[in-house]
Amino acid sequence: MTLLIPYNLRCEHMFTARGLNTSVPRFSWALEAEGKDRWQTAYRVELRNEDGIIWDSGKVPSNQTQLIPYGGPRLSSDAVLTWIVTCWDENNTPSAPSKPAMIFTGLAAADWEAEWIARYFVLPAGREAPADNIYDNLWQARPADYVRRDFATSQAPIRATLYITALGLYEAYMNGQRVGEDVMAPGWTDYHTRVEYQVHDVTDLVRAGNNVLGAILGEGWYSGRVGHNQRRAGNHYGGRPALLCQLHLHYGDGTSQIVCTDEHWQTRQGPICYSDFLMGEMYDARLEIANWNTPDCELSGWQRVEVFVPDPGAPQLDAARVQPAREVARLPASFSHHARSGAAIFDLGQNIAGYVELRVSGRSGDRFTIRHAETLDADRELYTANLRHAVAIDIFVASGNGTETFKPRFTFHGFRYVELTLPDGISPDQVSMTGITVQTDTSVTGVIETGHPLVNQLLSNIFWSQRGNFLSVPTDCPQRDERYGWTADAQVFWKTAGYFMDVSAFLTKWMLDIVDGQSRDGAFPDVAPTKPLNPYRLTPQPGAPGWGDAPVIMAWEHWLRYADRGLLERYWPALEAWAEHIGRANPDFIRRNAVYNNYGDWLSVGPVTDRTLVATAYWYRVADLLSRIADVLGRATDAARHRQTADSIRAAFTSAFVTADHQLTSDTQTAYLLALDFGLLARDQRNHAATRLVELIKAADGHLQTGFLGVRHLLPVLTAIGRDDLAVAMLLKETYPSWGFSIAHGATTIWERWDGWTPQKGFQSTNMNSFNHYAYGSVGEWIWSRLAGIDWDPNSPGYMGAVLRPLFHQAIGSCRAMYTAHPGRFVSQWDFEGSNVKWIVEIPPNCRVQLELPSGWQFAGGRHLTTLASGHHRFLLSPTGALAHS
Ligand code: BGC
Repeated sequence: MTLLIPYNLRCEHMFTARGLNTSVPRFSWALEAEGKDRWQTAYRVELRNEDGIIWDSGKVPSNQTQLIPYGGPRLSSDAVLTWIVTCWDENNTPSAPSKPAMIFTGLAAADWEAEWIARYFVLPAGREAPADNIYDNLWQARPADYVRRDFATSQAPIRATLYITALGLYEAYMNGQRVGEDVMAPGWTDYHTRVEYQVHDVTDLVRAGNNVLGAILGEGWYSGRVGHNQRRAGNHYGGRPALLCQLHLHYGDGTSQIVCTDEHWQTRQGPICYSDFLMGEMYDARLEIANWNTPDCELSGWQRVEVFVPDPGAPQLDAARVQPAREVARLPASFSHHARSGAAIFDLGQNIAGYVELRVSGRSGDRFTIRHAETLDADRELYTANLRHAVAIDIFVASGNGTETFKPRFTFHGFRYVELTLPDGISPDQVSMTGITVQTDTSVTGVIETGHPLVNQLLSNIFWSQRGNFLSVPTDCPQRDERYGWTADAQVFWKTAGYFMDVSAFLTKWMLDIVDGQSRDGAFPDVAPTKPLNPYRLTPQPGAPGWGDAPVIMAWEHWLRYADRGLLERYWPALEAWAEHIGRANPDFIRRNAVYNNYGDWLSVGPVTDRTLVATAYWYRVADLLSRIADVLGRATDAARHRQTADSIRAAFTSAFVTADHQLTSDTQTAYLLALDFGLLARDQRNHAATRLVELIKAADGHLQTGFLGVRHLLPVLTAIGRDDLAVAMLLKETYPSWGFSIAHGATTIWERWDGWTPQKGFQSTNMNSFNHYAYGSVGEWIWSRLAGIDWDPNSPGYMGAVLRPLFHQAIGSCRAMYTAHPGRFVSQWDFEGSNVKWIVEIPPNCRVQLELPSGWQFAGGRHLTTLASGHHRFLLSPTGALAHS
């Protein structure tokens, strides 16, 4: 027997925890091992700092691998720790110690000495702007501020840690070197409440003697444009970006030194003439400041910064709960054709969120204008009408110093096509252009491929829509003047998202953004962070049914996927307050009141589903989940109370919405889908509802008629009622409306609307027509959990157990799925061999799973179900029974 191998060590869901917001961090790891039926029977966690061991759990008899709480002495602030784990197997043989993982404990609130600094106050908008000023622009977007501080050290430090954040966006430098690879740091939170700081080990960048710590500051979510309200497009949190940082230097002789933001810093404007998420960025390389971030800088033109307390009060400083955003992929752009204007149009072949990098050599003052669009119009010109007020143009002005590389720093666009206007005398083949995608660095956990090209393209489109929208918060879309964290979009997509990428830390952070936006009377918001959505309200826009309900649903799914009680415990009062908010307004258990912007089954096509029915169904879901969550938390009384509410809602639903002949008053696909999937119907009603749902689909010629809320349930419900034939047919459909329709028309991401573009009508309304909106990508959950068949087991959450129940379909041919859950890797891979199926299953050590064959297939002995422990298993199955298992 080979040894167990612990890997993927995580602390608080992070491979490297860069700052802790808890005194009891939790430790997790995954396991792999050869052979079958492998178990961990004991573990030992050892945590050390540079002086030695600070916590040794000792050998703990346990098969637990997830979220094991720290049990040592109080962790000190500003510490850098490493930890390893050793695991004993079923024969009591220890593994080799794992590779070490790092933890930065971060700075305790009391240890912050730094002050917020910013460029001196800028004249309010409306004053006459100097027309000859290079920094002048149509949108009054601010030039980036360069800030720097010289400091001296007597010796090279043995450890130097930088704690840094901004109101706005920053890029940090030490002695001319970029610190870390984060982009769009510190990410988006409600900056009036809290801001996250980042932690960087800069030991190798600091030297004995003179040093310079510097940063470039951009506007980002803080003072730049976010959202769609033209009357208050930007400045949602403040008027100018600010920096806060603290550098801790530790020397070999036991002494230490702190350098932090204070009045000794200097500031200047430089080559970034302006930068704004929606408008774009302009960079004039002629304005570069030589050596600005080194001790050799010429200091004329630099001014003192202003130390100030941001309005309406300094935000709370939290360590980052989520991975930073990074440049996660590079795609070469190829020249496609010339626009009418003569500009060159390039194609990335993929709709992305990010920016392009340009390599050019021009004369001093040569201007390169880069426009972005998701698609082309009928004349093959860039189609930008759907960007609404987002201008999405980057401009590079060359210095003339040989080959120059430009990419913007503080803006991003949603695009596939790029139109480049070149200066005279430069042709497209003298330019090299690369698309760079920018995303919160949630690690990729799922790889999946089927035997059907359309399904593969759909999976790719879902993946790329997730990639394009998971930037600090899950946004609706990355291109137009919106880019909000819309809650329903996220909740319908959450199960899908968790297969493709590790969203444990991402949700841990975003749940807090949502809770920060909860009103005093318990209303969760429509979007989080909340500020820019409606600048005229003093309180956040309360959540509509399906939107405000999102935190309950996502917290539950976070539990099922990661077995993390922490989120449930921490937010239990917030979740209950939301349920009470609905309950108070609706004493008769029909959700008519407190429905706010009641969006209903948003963007559905076909007959409209009654919004009150949708709202009430969702309320049932909330009560049902609260009861289950209370059970998990051991709150029996609360569980019973929420169960009772759920029962009352169900009774009211039945009497209000189920007709005497067992139909729903709103006779639509979505109405039956919600009623069936949420469990609102009695058994005989279920059968009628199932029959009616199928009739409605047939009447629509096999097409879906669902919006954001209904679509998620479509294929799962069809499978649950025994109609996976229909589910597969709908998945493969290419006529309108269907997923395949967008693919047939060239989609490389998920469209916001089923009819974003049709041959008959062309583009949908310019008012709302994104081509990168993941909500309809919620079908990914069915492809993963049913077609590939890797699903969580509610009785054994966190993938300590799993249900493996694929659907074998000749029309799909094969499916190969690999999902790396927190405890380890699951594989389900099936291929048809004639009329038989070869099914390969891989289960990580320590897990026991339930296998379920599709109807019509059986294991040896005629069984349909079986349980299996870890290892690599091969089945050769025929419809009449298993031929082999090894
Ligand atoms: C967004 C959606 C969101 C919706 C709410 C739209 O503008 O793009 O994704 O959920 O508004 O109705």
